[in-house]
Amino acid sequence: EFMSEIKGLSVLEKQIKERLQVGNVIIVPGNSDKYEWVKQEMGKACIAFLKTIVKPESTIAVTGGTSMAAIADVMTPLNKKNSYLFVPARGGIGEKVENQANTIAAEMAKKAKGDYRLLYVPDPLSDSAYESIIEEPSINEILKQIKGSSIILHGIGDAITMAERRKTPESIIEILKTNKAVSEAFGYYFNAEGNVVHKVKTIGIHLEDLGSIEHVITVAGGKSKGQAIASYFKHGKSNLLITDEAAAEQILRDY
Ligand code: BG6
Repeated sequence: EFMSEIKGLSVLEKQIKERLQVGNVIIVPGNSDKYEWVKQEMGKACIAFLKTIVKPESTIAVTGGTSMAAIADVMTPLNKKNSYLFVPARGGIGEKVENQANTIAAEMAKKAKGDYRLLYVPDPLSDSAYESIIEEPSINEILKQIKGSSIILHGIGDAITMAERRKTPESIIEILKTNKAVSEAFGYYFNAEGNVVHKVKTIGIHLEDLGSIEHVITVAGGKSKGQAIASYFKHGKSNLLITDEAAAEQILRDY
């Protein structure tokens, strides 16, 4: 029975690869909307994969969110000899402390026996604050390290769920609704066709930086995220999607 389950998931992985046009897909059993441990299973799959790609000089950027926090929960040393640098992919973007990229990068580094650098910036930033903050030497230095990442781990959220979680002003939520935003990643909000309909202005990795990052790893699961995942993959760059069975089935059924 165990083998047939494994076989079943590999069929699903192949179907999702084709449907979303993504190079590599890993699916874990279950539905992470219902059970927290399913996120940890995605986390373990992510760490096993990381071990196959890290190089001695790797810098690993991470976004915030509960899926990323679950990876941090189960993080282990990636390699006996080397230590890696963990950095947040972007500034704040309004999450609770435990779900912030800074917190997660520090926790991953501690458990992986690596180093970390943090980025403290308010968000969203006004245009003028943005222009002056990126000139600050301390910010500029960490920004270079972030932009030089060879691996990025990121989540995908349902647009309105994320906007509310970030205490986004009602006027912006209205814009998201009018423009039919369905997904969010890195502070960008996308519609069902995968077009950007709104972005949170903050510093760090932007969508256009993903092209030069060797490994973009997306971790998102749960039946409720099927549409959001499908939307992100319309244009979003990713080399690997780690998801769960419930999200995969939802995508194949409806998107
Ligand atoms: C955020 C990321 O912090 O987590 C987002 O910056 C992502 O890009 C979100 O959409 C996903 O959160 P969760 O809790 O559903 O993993």
